[in-house]
This record gives sequence, structure tokens and C-alpha cells, in this order.
Amino acid sequence: MKSIVILISGRGSNMTALVDAASSLPPTRIAVISNRPDAAGLEFARQRGFETAVVDHRQYAARNDFDAALAEAIDAHQPDLVVLAGFMRILGEAFVQRFSGRLLNIHPSLLPAFPGTHTHAQALKCGVRLHGCTVHFVTPSLDSGPIVIQAAVPVLANDDEARLAARVLVQEHLIYPQAVRWFLEGRLSLDDNGRVLLAGELPTEAALLSPRGS
Ligand code: GRF
Repeated sequence: MKSIVILISGRGSNMTALVDAASSLPPTRIAVISNRPDAAGLEFARQRGFETAVVDHRQYAARNDFDAALAEAIDAHQPDLVVLAGFMRILGEAFVQRFSGRLLNIHPSLLPAFPGTHTHAQALKCGVRLHGCTVHFVTPSLDSGPIVIQAAVPVLANDDEARLAARVLVQEHLIYPQAVRWFLEGRLSLDDNGRVLLAGELPTEAALLSPRGS
């Protein structure tokens, strides 16, 4: 039985997408931890019988103390993988190193474009024609870890932030379960340049003809 811990701060729509995709994953135990006691996603998790916990960042004066308490709460589940899903805290180097290689995040842009926040506003401001989302391994430098999978969406003439965000979110809910499945199946590794390799991926043009994740 695999084990994952999903970290949320709010509605947790990516957590919901992962839970809904559970049948496509290897048998996996899921726990949900939030830094906010009022995170709407906690209720969803509780209703489905998942173990939940809250490590409230407001209870810790020092960021490192919060990170350490969060790490302890995670380690209680001995997870194969820790999944940041709308988790809105920046995690320190010690935490990231502790979970290095088994810590994923989803970012609502085509990294390395538009790191940080308000990515959809950044995309509209820059007038890009393609925007999207990225699942990546978390490293100490923000929004810049090895990329596992991306999805692109067109930016339409009448797009505003909300419409663009909604279009990107649909793709987030497709690529995150895919990335988690690949990880749990042991198909992801890093090459010498720190780029993610996907076992079984077609390295030829044939890959363009068949959807990834075959
Ligand atoms: C999503 O756009 C995600 O890319 C970003 O946080 C937003 C909310 O995520 N990390 P969720 O709906 O709480 O999963």
C-alpha cells in the first residue's frame, strides 16, 4: 500500500482531483494536512474518511518551528510522496531537503515563465498566447524544481484572470493525478542535468501522436 500526504491551505480542488483519480493510482493511503484550520478541503477529506491534521502556522513564531512541526505531522504517515496542492506557505530549505525527491507542487503557469503569485495576471499582462500549469519537484528555490509534466492552454481575446484561471485549473486537475501516478509507479527519475525522466516515455515523434502517460 502506497502512502501520500496532501498539503492544502484552502478549497483543495487539486486534492479533490487526486482523490477522484484514486482508482487510477496504485492502492494508496491518503492523509490531508492543512496549515489553516478553516481550509474548506479539510471537510471534504473528513467526509471521505481520510486522516486529516492541522498544523496552524499562526501558532509558531518562527518559520522553522512551523516547518519542523509540519514535517513531524507528515512523518507520522510515513508517506512515499508529499503533494503540495494549493499550499500557500513557502517551505524552508531544511524541510525541502528532508522530503527531497518525494515532494511535488503544482504551479499555475508554464514554468519557468511566471514564478510566484498572480500568474494569470502576469500572463495577461505579458500578452502570452499560451499559458498553463506545471507539476514539478520542489527544491529550495521557489517554483524552479525539475519539471514532471505541463499542460498548455490558449489565452483567448476576451480572457480575464478568472476565465484564464478556470481554464488552467481544468488542466491542473488532469496533470497532477498523472504525475502522482507516475511517481507511485516508480517511473520518474532525474538525469545528470536534473531533468525528469519518465520510464516508458516514447522519445520519438511517436510521442507526439499519443497522449503522454501511455
Ligand atoms: C491552484 O491554481 C494551484 O495551481 C495553486 O493554488 C491554486 C489553488 O489550488 N497552487 P487548490 O484549488 O486549492 O488545489
